[in-house]
Formats: sequence, structure tokens, C-alpha cells
Amino acid sequence: MKGKKEQGQEQQYAGSSFAGKVVLVTGAASGIGRAVALAFGRAGAAVVVADIAVDGGHSTAAMIVENGGKALFVAVNVTRALEVESMVDKTVHHYGRLDCAVNCAGVFEEGARLAETEEAIYDRIMDVNVKGVWLSMKYQLRQMERQGSGAIVNLSSAFGAVGVSGQAVYAASKHALAGLTRSAAIEYAKEGIRVNALCPGAVRTPMLARALGREPALEKKLRAAHPMGRFAEPAEIANAVLWLCSGQSSFVTGHELSVDGGFTAM
Ligand SMILES: NC(=O)c1ccc[n+]([C@@H]2O[C@H](COP(=O)([O-])OP(=O)(O)OC[C@H]3O[C@@H](n4cnc5c(N)ncnc54)[C@H](O)[C@@H]3O)[C@@H](O)[C@H]2O)c1
Repeated sequence: MKGKKEQGQEQQYAGSSFAGKVVLVTGAASGIGRAVALAFGRAGAAVVVADIAVDGGHSTAAMIVENGGKALFVAVNVTRALEVESMVDKTVHHYGRLDCAVNCAGVFEEGARLAETEEAIYDRIMDVNVKGVWLSMKYQLRQMERQGSGAIVNLSSAFGAVGVSGQAVYAASKHALAGLTRSAAIEYAKEGIRVNALCPGAVRTPMLARALGREPALEKKLRAAHPMGRFAEPAEIANAVLWLCSGQSSFVTGHELSVDGGFTAM
């Protein structure tokens, strides 16, 4: 039987309905993006599931449809402008508009001290985590501007608020999202578009499993860094994303919301 503090995974989003809304989620083939896409599907939205991983993307879309929802899978590499533009075009062509966009596509690579980090690792992390989010926002904002409304949530990290020994480049990529998020929030505030970032602590996803697989000793260290003494379930992150996209957060923009079990409070 699960202890009380392990029950997060059973939580379901109990907030607003998204019936009639069109939502685009990048990185939706796995982990947090998949949980976000499923939560929006359950809340009544038409969901565009976008990812470079074709099998996982089709599976997420199929799960939404099996639950009685509407979903379309679009293959995209978020580091390529033409593919990102086409992802937004397909969304609008298929569902007519774009109400909410959640940019979850991201990578986390094997750690090394800064002077030992390979240039190729730097390029890969910055390409996906920063350029990919910038490009996604670029085309999402163009569509939302035409409509005069929209909400964007970028998946940052608790590592976007602190220095991280052995992960300087990943930390830098997530710090960069604060600059993109706050600046876009200011630029588009008067056009009815809200832009926020969500900063999770460690979340039980394939990304975390790969990191723990590479370095098993990390699990104990990471748990100790979270005052709640556990990792988040993807559904707990999805709940906060849906809140940031809902009318319940109508005066929230340019904000980095921590959902980290107290990680950054320490
Ligand atoms: N899991 C955690 O502990 C944690 C904590 C804080 C922040 N985050 C952030 O949350 C986001 C989601 O992470 P996750 O744990 O669900 O990871 P994940 O690896 O389970 O999922 C990431 C998804 O992004 C996709 N992706 C990667 N590169 C892409 C590209 N170039 N184009 C399109 N899609 C691409 C992958 O195919 C995958 O489906 C990431 O931005 C990550 O940095 C994760």
C-alpha cells in the first residue's frame, strides 16, 4: 500500500474545462508532455501531440482518443524552424486556432564539470532546450497574435533557479527560459496572450529514469534535496500546467511557477 506522500500520481486535474479549446504540446510522446497532453484531453481540449519520437507520439494521441478525446500527432524536430512553423500551421489547419501551447520538448545529458563538458553536448542542450522553445514560441505567438488571445507555458526546471554542479549547461539552458518567458510576457501582455514558465523539481519520467540509470547514487542525493522527500509524478506537473493555461490564472504572466516539493525553498 502506498504511503500518503506517494499518492500524487493518483491526482486528477479537477479545474476548468477546456472544451472547445485547441492545445499544442511539444515533447508529448513521453513523460511530462504526455501527462499534460492526456490531462488536456480529459479536460475536453483538442490536443496536438508534437514530438520527434513518432511511435511515442502516436501512442499518446491514441490514448487521448481511447479516453474519448480529440488528438492529432504531428512529427517535429523543435530545433528546425520550417518544421516548427509547419507544426503550428497543421494545428490551425486541423482545428482552426491555437488557444494554449505547452513547450515540454527538452533534453538532459550526462553531467560533467564545466571544463570537461564537450562542445557537442553544449550545442545539443542549447539547441533543443533554448532554440527549440524560442522557435516554438515564435510561431505560436504569431498565431495567437492573429487571434488576440492565448496562453503559453514553457517547461523550465528548478535547475533554472540555482547553480547545478555537473550540469552547468542544462542549468544555463533553463535559466535562459526565464529571459525568453519574461520578455515575451511583457511584449504580448496587451494582446491577450499570457506567457509563463513552470519549474518542476525531479519528476518520475523516462528522462529521470535515464539519469538515475547512469548514476544510481543520484537518487538518494536528489530525494534529500526535496524537502517532501519524494519525486513528483507527471500528473502533478500537468495539474499546474492546466492551471496556468486556464482562466483561473487570468492575471498571471511572466511568472516562473515552482512545483518542486520545496527544492528551491532550501
Ligand atoms: N523529469 C524531470 O525530473 C524534469 C525536471 C524539471 C524539468 N524537466 C523538463 O521537463 C521537460 C520534459 O521532460 P521529461 O522528464 O518529460 O523528459 P522525457 O525525456 O520523458 O520527454 C521529453 C520529450 O521531448 C522530446 N524531444 C526531445 N528532443 C526533441 C526535439 N528536438 N524535437 C521534438 N521533441 C523532442 C522527446 O522525444 C521526449 O518525448 C523537459 O524540458 C525537461 O527539461 C524535467
